[in-house]
Amino acid sequence: MSSAVGGKVFQGSSTSAQQTAAETYLAEVAKHTVIRAVRAMAVEVLSVAAGSSVLDVGCGLGEMSRAFASMAGPDGSVTAIDLNPAMVAAAQDRHTAAPEDAVVKYEVADVASLGYSGDFDVVWCERVLQHVPDPEAAVGSLTRAVAPGGRACLLDVDWGALVVDGVDEAMTARVLDAFQLKVRQPTIGRTLRRRLVRAGLINPAVRSVHAVSTSLADAESVIPVLDRRQADLVAEADRAAWFDSLELADTRGQFLMAIPVYVAIATKRRQA
Ligand SMILES: C[S@@+](CC[C@H](N)C(=O)[O-])C[C@H]1O[C@@H](n2cnc3c(N)ncnc32)[C@H](O)[C@@H]1O
Repeated sequence: MSSAVGGKVFQGSSTSAQQTAAETYLAEVAKHTVIRAVRAMAVEVLSVAAGSSVLDVGCGLGEMSRAFASMAGPDGSVTAIDLNPAMVAAAQDRHTAAPEDAVVKYEVADVASLGYSGDFDVVWCERVLQHVPDPEAAVGSLTRAVAPGGRACLLDVDWGALVVDGVDEAMTARVLDAFQLKVRQPTIGRTLRRRLVRAGLINPAVRSVHAVSTSLADAESVIPVLDRRQADLVAEADRAAWFDSLELADTRGQFLMAIPVYVAIATKRRQA
């Protein structure tokens, strides 16, 4: 399997093998307790009202677009955008609309140049900013899309705070450092709140879920560098020893992985 995070597929271009790997990865991640917990926490804070207009930026397979369609209801609307046309097609294929749901409009677009201005009550952007070349441009563009009084909600992982225990420390540092270099914005999670403030939004709130796992099977489903199927993320010199050591630590009951996932929400000022 080709790697998803750290590969080109979440940066907008992909072979069909990479696209299949990315879809499998996103579907697995969506079922994971940590992602469910962080989404539930964000959705609770946002409390999307019936009739809302929602923009899902970097919609991937569109799980949240569909969830927002049911929250916004028949008087609301959802626009789901993604840079990758294959991802937009995959989201459309998965779309099953209930009559009481808002209509979801799918578009291929780059978060950095959305072309919306004050159109949405809620703008949601989950695990996208880590992949963009210019987060400031992206946050500027997506916050412009928020209507006065509306909210932007950014969710992202902080790969710079990923820790793994139970394996040789020097090798762990080498492997995790090399992995971070493959992600465009590895420390984006900790910066989300400040980016909303810099974009001029008010009443910023930040929360995080600190994921901790002591099961390799559980951890590798969300952390690509622990997943033998994504072995190309690890330098060849470390590859065999890394994956063998992870398995040994797991067998001995000594494996641990931890990582924070951040949510930042802020409000667009109403015009005076
Ligand atoms: C890790 S996936 C997350 C997908 C979805 N938000 C979710 O939480 O399941 C990242 C998504 O962002 C998209 N993406 C990356 N760069 C983008 C950009 N510049 N503009 C819009 N979408 C982008 C990718 O194509 C991919 O679908």
